[in-house]
Amino acid sequence: MNVAIFSAKKYDREFLSAANGSCHELRFFEPHLNEETVGLAAGFDVACVFVNDQVNAAVIANLHSLGVRLIALRCAGYNNVDLGAAKQQGITVVRVPAYSPYAVAEHTITLMLALNRKVHRAYNRVREGNFALDGLIGFDVHRKTVGVIGTGQIGTVVAQILIGFGCSILAFDPVPNPTCHSLGVQYVELNELLAQSDIISLHCPLTPENEHIINDAAIANMKNGVMLINTSRGALLDTVAIVDALKSGKIGYLGLDVYEEEEEIFFEDRSGLILSDDVFARLLTFPNVIITGHQAFFTKEALLKIAATTIDNITRFESHQPIEKLAG
Ligand code: NAI
Repeated sequence: MNVAIFSAKKYDREFLSAANGSCHELRFFEPHLNEETVGLAAGFDVACVFVNDQVNAAVIANLHSLGVRLIALRCAGYNNVDLGAAKQQGITVVRVPAYSPYAVAEHTITLMLALNRKVHRAYNRVREGNFALDGLIGFDVHRKTVGVIGTGQIGTVVAQILIGFGCSILAFDPVPNPTCHSLGVQYVELNELLAQSDIISLHCPLTPENEHIINDAAIANMKNGVMLINTSRGALLDTVAIVDALKSGKIGYLGLDVYEEEEEIFFEDRSGLILSDDVFARLLTFPNVIITGHQAFFTKEALLKIAATTIDNITRFESHQPIEKLAG
């Protein structure tokens, strides 16, 4: 099949080309897919997209008229795709439901530990010949209570790792996971999790119902000085409320791998440009905030699995083999 790969980076070329061999005709496009760039899909059977491509109803209608029959997401989350519109246009949508929960879970733990022990500050100090410890005091993670919101594949691995540290895990998920039960995770209501946890980590998908699940009211319910980690999707947090809580000290540590307006910022080298997002710019000023640019998934193992599953999805679609579909 002819496959148009949007938001393509060097590593996408490398891993997808290797997984593909000579199965399909792959064409790599650097721009995101959106209403301005959708014309690039003319003549292709498949549009292969990533987290910040805008696959809304207008884009889908255009893809349909250009002859695209399959939208292949090379990620797990699909909040950026209008599945109803795809269904209406008869376009099949597939994704990579599981690639490496370990990649994202381990990055989550990296953010927690780095924030706690202020590794980002210590690194800079030592390089400047400053070996003073003032301001670098941390806490033992051992025996702390961690709230995990969403106990699917990633949340479960996070819980598993933290149990190894000697933490108590509280969880909130409308569909409790038996694996977590057997690990000793205690399911509670969201308000109780927010009130009892020293560290809170988000691992649920973004849906219209849980957008800004962490807002002013939720923050008011948290412990003073709480650590909040979001490696899931940016719009789960009301970032303006988060900035206020950092200013007041209510939130003591913030680790983000995602941001609600990340589409305009992440995945590009903008080091020579002026940052026009004032909320994001304010976040960068806090010494107790670490932000990474949506890199939690970025391990060799995950990229290999993403590429293999994406090519397999396309092959299965072409040869009418069973395939797990989001739409179509
Ligand atoms: P999963 O589908 O295995 O688990 C999600 C869990 O969240 C399910 O158990 C579900 O019942 C639960 N859930 C749904 N709505 C909820 C709510 N309102 N409150 C609490 N729990 C809720 O998904 P997986 O693989 O664990 O991924 C979780 C999320 O991580 C993805 O949806 C995606 O947004 C994000 N992600 C981020 C990556 C990154 O590089 N930063 C990479 C991969 C995923």
